[in-house]
Amino acid sequence: MMVDSLTYDDYDSTLFSAPRCVREYTPVQLHTVHYSTHPVPIALPSCERGLNSPLALYSTIVTGHALDVLAQLPTGLCQTVVTSPPYWSLRDYAIPGQIGLENDPDDYIASLVDVFEEVRRVLSNEGALWLNIGDSYTSGGRTWRAPDKKHPVRAMTTRPPTPQGLKPKELVGIPWRLAFALQKAGWYLRSDTIWHKPNVMPESVKDRPTRSHEYLFLLTKSEQYYYDQNAVRGPNDRNLRTVWDVNTQPLHDVHFATFPPKLVEPCILLTSKPGDVVLDPFLGSGTVATVAIQTGRAFLGIELNPTYIEIARRRIAETNRLDQQVEQVG
Ligand SMILES: C[S@@+](CC[C@H](N)C(=O)[O-])C[C@H]1O[C@@H](n2cnc3c(N)ncnc32)[C@H](O)[C@@H]1O
Repeated sequence: MMVDSLTYDDYDSTLFSAPRCVREYTPVQLHTVHYSTHPVPIALPSCERGLNSPLALYSTIVTGHALDVLAQLPTGLCQTVVTSPPYWSLRDYAIPGQIGLENDPDDYIASLVDVFEEVRRVLSNEGALWLNIGDSYTSGGRTWRAPDKKHPVRAMTTRPPTPQGLKPKELVGIPWRLAFALQKAGWYLRSDTIWHKPNVMPESVKDRPTRSHEYLFLLTKSEQYYYDQNAVRGPNDRNLRTVWDVNTQPLHDVHFATFPPKLVEPCILLTSKPGDVVLDPFLGSGTVATVAIQTGRAFLGIELNPTYIEIARRRIAETNRLDQQVEQVG
């Protein structure tokens, strides 16, 4: 059962107390973690329903399935979304309800389109979504992936079979399949930035080049949206180009790919203002939250796995501490 989206009036009492909706497969009790970091109330952007009174919203992380939690948020709450959903057939996050292990890539795409439909509702009319997504190869009939000495997390006890219509060893083309599906659902596809990783890990392949890029799609809710092209400039003060060189930055103790803060920062600066709300519905270790703090934005993070939320909380606390030190020095 899904609940209708809530109004701002409902928001305070609902997000911070027991939710009304828990999906059957959600293993953990859907509860909220109220993580207050910003000492001052943040004025919300004016909302489609005409309720534009300032509301004391504090940065928050919520545990639960992205779709369930989003369904409880008010329309037009967030200005920018920066997120990296689980990639198809790449990682087992070892928690029921996880997205990414669907047998058929079409089912995976459909799950993500459902989530991003809710994201679109929660986004302000002038808002933007930065969606980082990588591609996957078909498993070629292998039902598992051996651990790799350097990257034990690449091990998988189960792998989806080669989907119908595809052959073993094929690149699936997930990023563009997803982009087209989102476009069909109503999003404006505005840009396909290539995240080039100069320090990419070697792959044990001998019959194709090593992949060293992922996509970062810019999608918007409307034709006109907030975009400050002067907030981040390219070399020689030119308008930013669509290939960004950003090194990957593994985190100690975190066994999945995390966002490098340098990839997130331009996204937030280009499409939001200080005080706006930045959402990541697949928060993981909380990188988007830490960059939001550093750039003076509020954050709203959703994550299914409570273990990762603990990591995010630690990182957020550390960022706040450093931020306060900077303020005191300044
Ligand atoms: C690629 S990781 C995100 C990493 C993040 N950008 C960071 O910097 O740490 C994807 C995350 O989505 C979470 N996830 C998987 N299925 C989910 C779902 N249905 N709802 C919410 N989170 C989910 C996983 O637990 C994982 O932490």
